[in-house]
Amino acid sequence: MKVAPSLLSCDFLNLQQEIQRLEAAGIDYIHFDVMDGTFVPNISFAFPLLNQIRAITDLTIDTHLMVQDPERYIEAFANAGSDIITVHVEATNHIHRAIQQIKALGKKAGITLNPGTPIESLVPVLKDVDLVLVMTVNPGFGGQRFIESCVDKIQFLNDFRQNNDLSYEIEVDGGVNETTATLCSNAGADVLVAGSYFFNHDDLSIPTAILRGE
Ligand code: DX5
Ligand code: ZN
Repeated sequence: MKVAPSLLSCDFLNLQQEIQRLEAAGIDYIHFDVMDGTFVPNISFAFPLLNQIRAITDLTIDTHLMVQDPERYIEAFANAGSDIITVHVEATNHIHRAIQQIKALGKKAGITLNPGTPIESLVPVLKDVDLVLVMTVNPGFGGQRFIESCVDKIQFLNDFRQNNDLSYEIEVDGGVNETTATLCSNAGADVLVAGSYFFNHDDLSIPTAILRGE
Protein backbone atom coordinates (compact mmCIF):
# COMPACT_ATOMS: atom_id res chain seq x y z
CA MET A 1 0.00 0.00 0.00
CA LYS A 2 1.26 3.48 -0.90
CA VAL A 3 0.66 6.50 1.34
CA ALA A 4 -0.16 9.98 0.01
CA PRO A 5 -0.53 12.62 2.74
CA SER A 6 -2.70 15.60 1.80
CA LEU A 7 -0.87 18.88 2.35
CA LEU A 8 -4.21 20.50 3.14
CA SER A 9 -3.77 19.44 6.76
CA CYS A 10 -0.11 20.38 7.22
CA ASP A 11 1.31 23.39 9.04
CA PHE A 12 1.53 25.96 6.22
CA LEU A 13 3.68 28.32 8.26
CA ASN A 14 6.40 25.66 8.36
CA LEU A 15 5.97 24.13 4.95
CA GLN A 16 9.64 23.37 4.31
CA GLN A 17 9.89 21.52 7.61
CA GLU A 18 6.68 19.66 6.84
CA ILE A 19 8.09 18.46 3.51
CA GLN A 20 11.25 17.30 5.29
CA ARG A 21 9.12 15.42 7.86
CA LEU A 22 7.25 13.71 5.01
CA GLU A 23 10.52 12.69 3.37
CA ALA A 24 11.85 11.32 6.66
CA ALA A 25 8.64 9.33 7.20
CA GLY A 26 9.14 7.59 3.85
CA ILE A 27 5.80 8.52 2.28
CA ASP A 28 5.10 7.78 -1.40
CA TYR A 29 3.23 10.75 -2.89
CA ILE A 30 2.55 14.30 -1.76
CA HIS A 31 -1.18 14.79 -2.41
CA PHE A 32 -1.71 18.41 -3.53
CA ASP A 33 -5.39 19.43 -3.29
CA VAL A 34 -6.34 22.31 -5.58
CA MET A 35 -9.78 23.90 -4.95
CA ASP A 36 -11.16 26.67 -7.11
CA GLY A 37 -14.21 27.91 -5.16
CA THR A 38 -16.49 26.90 -8.07
CA PHE A 39 -16.25 23.13 -8.50
CA VAL A 40 -16.05 22.87 -4.70
CA PRO A 41 -17.14 25.41 -2.06
CA ASN A 42 -13.60 26.14 -0.87
CA ILE A 43 -10.37 27.66 -2.19
CA SER A 44 -6.93 26.23 -1.39
CA PHE A 45 -3.68 26.84 -3.28
CA ALA A 46 -2.25 26.55 -6.78
CA PHE A 47 0.88 26.71 -8.96
CA PRO A 48 3.00 29.34 -7.20
CA LEU A 49 3.07 27.14 -4.11
CA LEU A 50 3.59 23.98 -6.14
CA ASN A 51 6.59 25.58 -7.86
CA GLN A 52 8.22 26.28 -4.53
CA ILE A 53 7.55 22.77 -3.24
CA ARG A 54 8.95 21.23 -6.43
CA ALA A 55 12.18 23.15 -5.87
CA ILE A 56 12.83 21.47 -2.51
CA THR A 57 11.76 17.84 -2.98
CA ASP A 58 12.01 14.92 -5.36
CA LEU A 59 8.91 13.22 -3.93
CA THR A 60 6.17 12.37 -6.43
CA ILE A 61 3.60 15.17 -6.51
CA ASP A 62 0.06 13.89 -6.93
CA THR A 63 -2.13 16.86 -7.91
CA HIS A 64 -5.89 16.55 -7.35
CA LEU A 65 -7.66 19.26 -9.36
CA MET A 66 -11.03 20.13 -7.79
CA VAL A 67 -11.38 22.72 -10.51
CA GLN A 68 -14.12 23.44 -13.07
CA ASP A 69 -12.92 22.99 -16.68
CA PRO A 70 -9.48 21.72 -15.63
CA GLU A 71 -8.20 21.81 -19.26
CA ARG A 72 -7.51 25.52 -18.66
CA TYR A 73 -4.85 24.75 -16.05
CA ILE A 74 -3.38 21.34 -16.87
CA GLU A 75 -0.34 22.81 -18.60
CA ALA A 76 0.35 25.20 -15.72
CA PHE A 77 0.27 22.34 -13.21
CA ALA A 78 2.50 20.21 -15.42
CA ASN A 79 5.01 23.05 -15.70
CA ALA A 80 4.88 23.71 -11.97
CA GLY A 81 6.09 20.17 -11.30
CA SER A 82 3.15 17.77 -10.91
CA ASP A 83 4.00 14.13 -11.62
CA ILE A 84 0.39 12.91 -11.57
CA ILE A 85 -2.55 15.15 -12.52
CA THR A 86 -6.06 13.99 -11.60
CA VAL A 87 -9.22 15.60 -12.97
CA HIS A 88 -12.87 15.14 -11.99
CA VAL A 89 -15.21 13.56 -14.53
CA GLU A 90 -17.93 16.02 -13.39
CA ALA A 91 -15.75 19.06 -14.03
CA THR A 92 -15.41 18.80 -17.80
CA ASN A 93 -17.51 17.89 -20.85
CA HIS A 94 -14.36 16.41 -22.39
CA ILE A 95 -12.76 14.00 -19.94
CA HIS A 96 -11.10 12.05 -22.76
CA ARG A 97 -9.46 15.19 -24.14
CA ALA A 98 -8.29 16.24 -20.67
CA ILE A 99 -6.62 12.85 -20.16
CA GLN A 100 -4.85 13.10 -23.54
CA GLN A 101 -3.70 16.61 -22.66
CA ILE A 102 -2.10 15.38 -19.42
CA LYS A 103 -0.37 12.48 -21.18
CA ALA A 104 0.90 14.69 -24.00
CA LEU A 105 2.69 16.76 -21.36
CA GLY A 106 4.50 13.63 -20.19
CA LYS A 107 2.60 13.34 -16.90
CA LYS A 108 0.60 10.49 -15.41
CA ALA A 109 -3.13 10.96 -15.92
CA GLY A 110 -5.68 10.37 -13.17
CA ILE A 111 -9.46 10.58 -13.11
CA THR A 112 -11.78 10.88 -10.16
CA LEU A 113 -15.46 11.14 -9.23
CA ASN A 114 -17.61 12.47 -6.40
CA PRO A 115 -19.45 10.07 -4.07
CA GLY A 116 -22.77 10.74 -5.87
CA THR A 117 -21.40 9.99 -9.35
CA PRO A 118 -21.83 6.44 -10.68
CA ILE A 119 -18.59 4.53 -11.32
CA GLU A 120 -19.88 3.54 -14.77
CA SER A 121 -19.21 7.12 -15.92
CA LEU A 122 -15.48 6.30 -15.84
CA VAL A 123 -15.63 3.07 -17.81
CA PRO A 124 -15.13 4.54 -21.32
CA VAL A 125 -11.74 5.99 -20.30
CA LEU A 126 -10.40 3.43 -17.82
CA LYS A 127 -8.03 1.98 -20.39
CA ASP A 128 -6.48 5.42 -20.92
CA VAL A 129 -5.51 6.34 -17.36
CA ASP A 130 -2.64 5.70 -14.95
CA LEU A 131 -4.64 6.28 -11.78
CA VAL A 132 -8.27 6.30 -10.61
CA LEU A 133 -9.08 8.24 -7.46
CA VAL A 134 -12.18 7.19 -5.52
CA MET A 135 -13.55 10.07 -3.42
CA THR A 136 -14.94 8.80 -0.13
CA VAL A 137 -16.11 12.26 1.01
CA ASN A 138 -17.70 15.12 -0.92
CA PRO A 139 -14.60 17.08 -1.93
CA GLY A 140 -13.91 20.54 -0.57
CA PHE A 141 -12.80 20.03 3.00
CA GLY A 142 -10.46 17.92 5.09
CA GLY A 143 -11.64 16.19 8.24
CA GLN A 144 -14.94 14.76 6.97
CA ARG A 145 -16.40 11.32 7.64
CA PHE A 146 -15.67 8.41 5.29
CA ILE A 147 -18.74 7.43 3.18
CA GLU A 148 -18.77 3.63 3.33
CA SER A 149 -20.98 3.08 0.29
CA CYS A 150 -18.07 4.29 -1.89
CA VAL A 151 -16.09 1.14 -1.06
CA ASP A 152 -18.09 -0.73 -3.73
CA LYS A 153 -16.46 1.53 -6.33
CA ILE A 154 -12.99 0.41 -5.22
CA GLN A 155 -14.06 -3.20 -5.61
CA PHE A 156 -15.56 -2.48 -9.05
CA LEU A 157 -12.32 -0.85 -10.22
CA ASN A 158 -10.24 -3.72 -8.89
CA ASP A 159 -12.41 -6.32 -10.69
CA PHE A 160 -12.51 -4.27 -13.89
CA ARG A 161 -8.73 -3.92 -13.86
CA GLN A 162 -8.25 -7.64 -13.48
CA ASN A 163 -10.85 -8.62 -16.07
CA ASN A 164 -9.47 -6.22 -18.68
CA ASP A 165 -5.78 -6.68 -17.99
CA LEU A 166 -5.25 -3.02 -17.05
CA SER A 167 -2.75 -1.55 -14.60
CA TYR A 168 -4.08 1.78 -13.27
CA GLU A 169 -3.52 2.48 -9.58
CA ILE A 170 -6.60 2.78 -7.35
CA GLU A 171 -6.29 5.66 -4.90
CA VAL A 172 -8.78 6.54 -2.15
CA ASP A 173 -9.31 10.04 -0.73
CA GLY A 174 -11.39 11.34 2.19
CA GLY A 175 -11.88 10.26 5.79
CA VAL A 176 -9.08 7.70 5.63
CA ASN A 177 -7.85 6.57 9.06
CA GLU A 178 -6.62 3.31 10.58
CA THR A 179 -10.13 1.78 10.53
CA THR A 180 -11.33 2.88 7.10
CA ALA A 181 -7.90 2.06 5.58
CA THR A 182 -8.64 -1.63 6.15
CA LEU A 183 -11.93 -1.39 4.22
CA CYS A 184 -10.05 0.25 1.32
CA SER A 185 -7.22 -2.23 1.22
CA ASN A 186 -9.59 -5.21 1.40
CA ALA A 187 -11.48 -3.81 -1.60
CA GLY A 188 -8.29 -3.46 -3.66
CA ALA A 189 -6.92 0.07 -3.10
CA ASP A 190 -3.23 0.71 -3.88
CA VAL A 191 -2.79 4.28 -2.57
CA LEU A 192 -4.38 5.97 0.45
CA VAL A 193 -4.66 9.75 0.76
CA ALA A 194 -4.88 11.00 4.34
CA GLY A 195 -4.96 14.55 5.66
CA SER A 196 -6.34 15.16 9.14
CA TYR A 197 -5.64 11.66 10.47
CA PHE A 198 -2.08 11.73 9.12
CA PHE A 199 -0.97 15.13 10.40
CA ASN A 200 -2.57 14.51 13.79
CA HIS A 201 0.55 12.52 14.69
CA ASP A 202 3.78 14.09 15.96
CA ASP A 203 5.81 11.26 14.47
CA LEU A 204 4.67 10.91 10.85
CA SER A 205 6.31 7.52 10.45
CA ILE A 206 3.52 6.12 12.66
CA PRO A 207 0.53 6.86 10.36
CA THR A 208 2.75 5.96 7.38
CA ALA A 209 3.33 2.47 8.79
CA ILE A 210 -0.29 2.03 9.92
CA LEU A 211 -1.80 3.06 6.58
CA ARG A 212 0.69 0.90 4.74
CA GLY A 213 -0.58 -2.02 6.81
CA GLU A 214 2.76 -2.71 8.52
C1 DX5 B 1 -11.03 16.62 0.11
C2 DX5 B 1 -9.59 16.47 -0.36
C3 DX5 B 1 -8.87 15.47 0.46
C4 DX5 B 1 -8.79 15.83 1.92
C5 DX5 B 1 -8.47 14.65 2.73
O1 DX5 B 1 -11.61 17.62 -0.60
O2 DX5 B 1 -9.54 16.07 -1.69
O3 DX5 B 1 -7.60 15.16 -0.08
O4 DX5 B 1 -7.91 16.85 2.17
O5 DX5 B 1 -8.55 15.01 4.07
P1 DX5 B 1 -9.00 14.01 5.21
O6 DX5 B 1 -8.04 12.86 5.18
O7 DX5 B 1 -8.90 14.82 6.45
O8 DX5 B 1 -10.40 13.58 4.87
ZN1 ZN C 1 -7.63 15.13 -2.58
